Amino acid sequence: MTERSGTRPLRVVVTGGAGFIGSHLCARLLDGGHRVWAVDNFDPFYPETVKRAGVAPLLRRENFRLVEADVCEPAATGEALRAAGLDDGADVLVHLAARAGVRPSIEHPLLYSRVNVEGTAATLELARRLSIPAYVFGGSSSVYGNAASVPFREDDPVAAPISPYAATKRAGELLCHAHGHLYGTGIVCLRFFTVYGPRQRPDLAIHKFARLMRAGEPIPFFGDGSTERDYTYVDDIVQGVEGAIRYALAHPGCFEIVNLGENGTVSLSRLVSLLASSLGVEPVLNRLPAQPGDVQRTCADVSRARALLGYRPSVPIEAGIPRFVEWFRATG
Ligand SMILES: NC(=O)c1ccc[n+]([C@@H]2O[C@H](COP(=O)([O-])OP(=O)(O)OC[C@H]3O[C@@H](n4cnc5c(N)ncnc54)[C@H](O)[C@@H]3O)[C@@H](O)[C@H]2O)c1
Repeated sequence: MTERSGTRPLRVVVTGGAGFIGSHLCARLLDGGHRVWAVDNFDPFYPETVKRAGVAPLLRRENFRLVEADVCEPAATGEALRAAGLDDGADVLVHLAARAGVRPSIEHPLLYSRVNVEGTAATLELARRLSIPAYVFGGSSSVYGNAASVPFREDDPVAAPISPYAATKRAGELLCHAHGHLYGTGIVCLRFFTVYGPRQRPDLAIHKFARLMRAGEPIPFFGDGSTERDYTYVDDIVQGVEGAIRYALAHPGCFEIVNLGENGTVSLSRLVSLLASSLGVEPVLNRLPAQPGDVQRTCADVSRARALLGYRPSVPIEAGIPRFVEWFRATG
C-alpha cells in the first residue's frame, strides 16, 4: 500500500501502536507514505522500555505522532488526538490495543474484560465521534476454542471460548458488528494466529524459550509436545492488516471477519527443535502438564483473506525463526 502504487496517503489511527504488531504496522504505513497516530498507554503487561525501544525509530519520522492515552477513555483520547494534529478526521482506525495472552487472562478476567471489551466499545465510540469511516479490529484465533476440525474457517461456530481472553476477543467482534449495523462504518475483524518475529512480546513462547535457551535454563514444555500452532510471521500479518484497511475503505458499511495465519501447523516439539538449532543450543525441557485454557491446535483457512484482502503469507516457520533469532541476537 504505497503512494507510488497509486493509493492516496491515508490518515491512520493505530491503537496499541507501541506494541509488537502495532509498531511493525506503523513502520509499514509510514513507509507507504501514510500519516500515523499511534495511541498507546504503555500498559505494564511487559516492560515499558521494550515498547519505547520499538517506537523510538518511528518518533524520528515526519508523519508519525505518538499519543499517550488510555483507549478506555474515548473523550480524553479524542482530545489527545486532536492536540496531536488529527483535527480534520482520520480515514481508518486500527484497534490493536488490548491485554493479550491466554494464561494471564485466567488470573485477571476483570482486567481483560475492561481493556478488551470496554476498550473496543470505547474505540468504536471514538471512531463515531471523529467520523472515521473504516475500522479494523485485531482479533484472535483463540475464539475458535477447541474446534473439532482444522483448518479453522470464519463461519465455524465460535460460541464456546475456553479462556477469558478468547471470550473478550469474541465480544469485541460482536461489538464491531453492532456498531457497523448502527452507523454504517466499514469494519474488518481480523483473527490473528500466533504472531512472531522481531520484537515479539516477551511473554510469547518463541521469545520466552529463546531467552531461557540462551541462558542454558530449562524451558517449560507443556503436555507431550503435540499441541500445534499456526505461527504467523509479523510481516505477513502487517500485509494482511494493510489489505483489511484497503478493503474497509473500499466497502463502506461492510462487516467481514477474516483469518490471518500461515495455513500450516507446527508442533511444540518441532518449534523447540527449530529454535534450538537456529540458536545453536541443546534445549533442556521442564515437562509440565497441559495448561488450562490452551487449545490443542490452531490452523487458519486463509482463503477468505486471499480473496478479499489479497493476503499472501510468504514467510514459513523455517524462514521466520532464523529471522527472529537474528533480531534476538542483535538485541543482546
Ligand atoms: N501477538 C499475537 O500472537 C496475537 C495473536 C492474536 C491476537 N493478537 C492481538 O493483536 C493485538 C496486538 O498484540 P501484540 O502481540 O502486539 O500485543 P502488545 O501487548 O505488544 O501490544 C498491545 C499494545 O496495546 C497497548 N495497550 C494496552 N492497553 C491499552 C489501553 N488501555 N490504552 C492504550 N493502549 C493500550 C499496550 O501498551 C501495547 O503496546 C492485541 O489486540 C492482541 O490481542 C495478538
